[in-house]
Amino acid sequence: MPILKNISTLYTCRDEGGQAEVHPIHNAAIAWEDDVLSWVGKASDLPEKFSGQEFQDAGGKIVVPGLVDCHTHLCFGGWRSEEFEMRILGKSYLEIAKAGGGILSTVKHTRERSEADLYKKAAGLLDEIISTGVTSIECKSGYGLTVEDELKQLRVYKRLAQNYPIHLKASFLGAHTIPPEYKDDRDGYIDLVINEMIPAVAEENLAQFCDIFVEDSAFTTEEARTIFEAGNKHGLTPKLHADQLSSGGGAELAAEVGAISADHLEQISETGIEKMAEAGVIGVTLPIASLYTQQPYLNCRKLVDGGVQVAVATDFNPGSAPSYDLRLALMLTCNHGRLTPAEVLKGATIYAAKAMGVENQTGSIEPGKSADFLLLDEPSVNFWLYHHRPNLPDTVFLKGKQQSSNQ
Ligand code: NIG
Ligand code: FE
Repeated sequence: MPILKNISTLYTCRDEGGQAEVHPIHNAAIAWEDDVLSWVGKASDLPEKFSGQEFQDAGGKIVVPGLVDCHTHLCFGGWRSEEFEMRILGKSYLEIAKAGGGILSTVKHTRERSEADLYKKAAGLLDEIISTGVTSIECKSGYGLTVEDELKQLRVYKRLAQNYPIHLKASFLGAHTIPPEYKDDRDGYIDLVINEMIPAVAEENLAQFCDIFVEDSAFTTEEARTIFEAGNKHGLTPKLHADQLSSGGGAELAAEVGAISADHLEQISETGIEKMAEAGVIGVTLPIASLYTQQPYLNCRKLVDGGVQVAVATDFNPGSAPSYDLRLALMLTCNHGRLTPAEVLKGATIYAAKAMGVENQTGSIEPGKSADFLLLDEPSVNFWLYHHRPNLPDTVFLKGKQQSSNQ
């Protein structure tokens, strides 16, 4: 049974307590059997049965749970670097979208690529993502927008989940935007989502969540309600892109439909915060999207004070957030979202695990959970996020196996 000793501080990140409570243990040790943690505590309390056994030496490094990126659009064709330049020169994200760029440009490129091509690209990205310390990931469709092209993206995720040790959950995001061939027939597209896409996704068991982009420029709350209803009938749990560019009642809807999370939320209303707190919906902040679209950041402090648990994710996609660097998202949430390093750590571990429904398997360092953890050569989590530099975790353990050593 592998044992790791000489951990200066182990941040266990158990669920109980508030956003700031990461339950550290100093001079800690952990043990695991196959892929599951069997013992966690102070090294001096290691049970007798471990004495005399060989152990690995953490060399006084800190250990945190494997990170959880609970909002990505990992599988897509092409990139959109020209839009990056356009935004710098003054065009807004919405103006670019209205001129045929934005999401629709990625839809075109995703439709043109075969499933094999898309798999190859996403797999390459996933290797890089795992080396940054991400051990759980949520991945969305939404760049196909035909039955076959949505299934194509979701089948890529299914194969990735089979071939990689990472905990992966997929969300169906057919209601991302209206595709060009339906531009004069919104209802026709919504019928397609409800009557053909959702049943086909459920039939192949390709997704766990039904996500919708609820926004003036995308889908109304009324439309979203009907789509969620259809999703529910097929066992898909609601999840939302909400209140990103305008305050359109997205957070309130998330509470009403019992969504697992509502994401973005930069324009959330006071009522939205109250309702989400009452219903226990996780709020997911996506600061890299604010960074790249020059939009205001979410004030996460308001959500935490209002009783909402806040998770932090990258929103990795080729348009509004072309970076999978979750640690960058954490640093931005400290500086712009007004959460402390401990609070964002909880947001990228156990709360993010809750936002993607894997909190019983991972997201914290506790006996019985998957042995997913990172060794960081830092004096503390505070210092790790304060001294931002291109430092990857020294070692990534996923399901008890060392994935990479960046030493
Ligand atoms: O989460 N808001 C909608 N969807 C993505 C953007 C996707 C894109 O620009 O391609 C987001 O930011
Ligand atoms: Fe997104």
